[in-house]
Amino acid sequence: MRIELDPAQHDRNTFYRLLTASVVPRPIAWVSTTSADGVDNLAPHSFFTVACVSPPMVQFTSVGRKDSLRNVEATGEFVVNLAPEQLFEQINATGTDFPHRLSEFDAVGIAREPSTRVKPPRVAASPVALECRLHSTVLLGDSTVVFGEVVHAAVSDAVLVDGHPEVDRMRPLTRLGKDEWGTLGEVLEISRIRYADWPDAQKS
Ligand SMILES: Cc1cc2nc3c(=O)[nH]c(=O)nc-3n(C[C@H](O)[C@H](O)[C@H](O)COP(=O)(O)O)c2cc1C
Repeated sequence: MRIELDPAQHDRNTFYRLLTASVVPRPIAWVSTTSADGVDNLAPHSFFTVACVSPPMVQFTSVGRKDSLRNVEATGEFVVNLAPEQLFEQINATGTDFPHRLSEFDAVGIAREPSTRVKPPRVAASPVALECRLHSTVLLGDSTVVFGEVVHAAVSDAVLVDGHPEVDRMRPLTRLGKDEWGTLGEVLEISRIRYADWPDAQKS
């Protein structure tokens, strides 16, 4: 038996909780931006994924209008810092609704490093930083999807194995429902099957 739910019959938060508990685990973009008057901002966003391969693009969603979105709109730049397990409490603390004039880097005590191609700084202890230029935004109801072209990537050599970021070394955190977070579980590996190799493929 299933419980059937019609979004039209439920309030916004009921469906928000259902979606965020169902679409799991979500990777976390730890987004750094700089305001027009020079304040460095940092906030986690778990509505985040790769948006395009060529040119390389990523996307995150601002639910409502927040400082990160305002800064991206004002400056056209942001950095997605990957969120490693060892920075769990700091990442959560940057989700606090600090006033616009305060920098989460300073309030939480997070070390910056300069970016190569954009003005917002990178998180020094994050294993991967994707420096982005704003491509476009799409307003969807109460949320805004931000698309950014990755103009530079900086990867810590401590997580590289044969030139590739190794997930066991990155230890990415994920966001689950409620106040739950996930850590990396067991990693499975399997090759995709080409149709030409599918059993009985020649007959159909
Ligand atoms: C793990 C985590 C994931 C989050 N994901 C999102 C998200 O995808 N979109 C969003 O608007 N807020 C998200 N939030 C809440 C924002 O981080 C929070 O509202 C923050 O204060 C926004 O900061 P800003 O105003 O400096 O941009 C998340 C918070 C946490 C802790």
